[in-house]
Amino acid sequence: MKKWLALFPIMILLIFTHAAAAEKLESIAVAVADYLTAGRAVIAKNQTLINDPSLGDKGFTPQAYAEQVSQEFMLRSGIDIRSLSPTDDFGKAVIAIHEAAMEVIAEAQTQINEPGTGFKGFIPAVFGKKVGDKLYRKAGITVKQTSLKFRGEYNKPDDFEVDVLKKLESSGKGNTYYEETKFGDLRVLRYVVPLYIEKSCLPCHGEPAGEKDITGKIKEGYKEGDMRGAISVIAPIKCVLDNK
Ligand code: HEC
Repeated sequence: MKKWLALFPIMILLIFTHAAAAEKLESIAVAVADYLTAGRAVIAKNQTLINDPSLGDKGFTPQAYAEQVSQEFMLRSGIDIRSLSPTDDFGKAVIAIHEAAMEVIAEAQTQINEPGTGFKGFIPAVFGKKVGDKLYRKAGITVKQTSLKFRGEYNKPDDFEVDVLKKLESSGKGNTYYEETKFGDLRVLRYVVPLYIEKSCLPCHGEPAGEKDITGKIKEGYKEGDMRGAISVIAPIKCVLDNK
């Protein structure tokens, strides 16, 4: 009994450490999802420019993107990207996704600046997929765009995401979902934040359902305000605890 009592302070400490780490991880997951939403919005705002066949150089450089995404990210998260510290986990994760996004814009320059071509296939969903792949390689954090009506096979929801997407669809607008759970052998925090259909999404995802959009994919027939899908973040709990 006495031995057990001696362990008590250690247990309390472990519980607090775990709670603090979980909270930190939660803020990382939220910031990563906010960042991807902000980056997608920047691509959407520049879509007409990117698709302009009469222009060669669009001036949509990684630097131009960085300025715009800083504002969009600030609007969503209240965080100034330039003020982040690369030495703490939170700063590391947000800087990692920002660098991933800048690399994606840098690598797409030839595509973006191609004169004489209108639609070039560089859209928010494609940008998001590439950023997700790079972030995983940089930081071990998965960020994925998914939907119950997925177009890209790699956007297919897993069983967890199917359940959560259904819950979020029926629970009304503006809710998000967190759960500490297992992912394969890893203990992870999963965070899912819904994406809703705006006017700008309708040419590709709106009505009439079954018709082809500009990308050659089939329109789903969504209406403004419908839940289109979600951004799903999977952050290993280990990634934060290890770096403490
Ligand atoms: C130019 C056409 C176009 C526009 C505009 C567009 N999308 Fe998409 N969207 C696509 C294509 C094409 C894919 C599949 C891309 C892929 O294979 O990765 C996609 C995929 C997605 C996905 C991933 C799930 C899936 O179906 O594979 C989400 C979520 C999504 N779009 C949301 C939106 C939202 C929200 C908007 C508006 C803010 C929007 N999209 C605007 C063409 C578009």
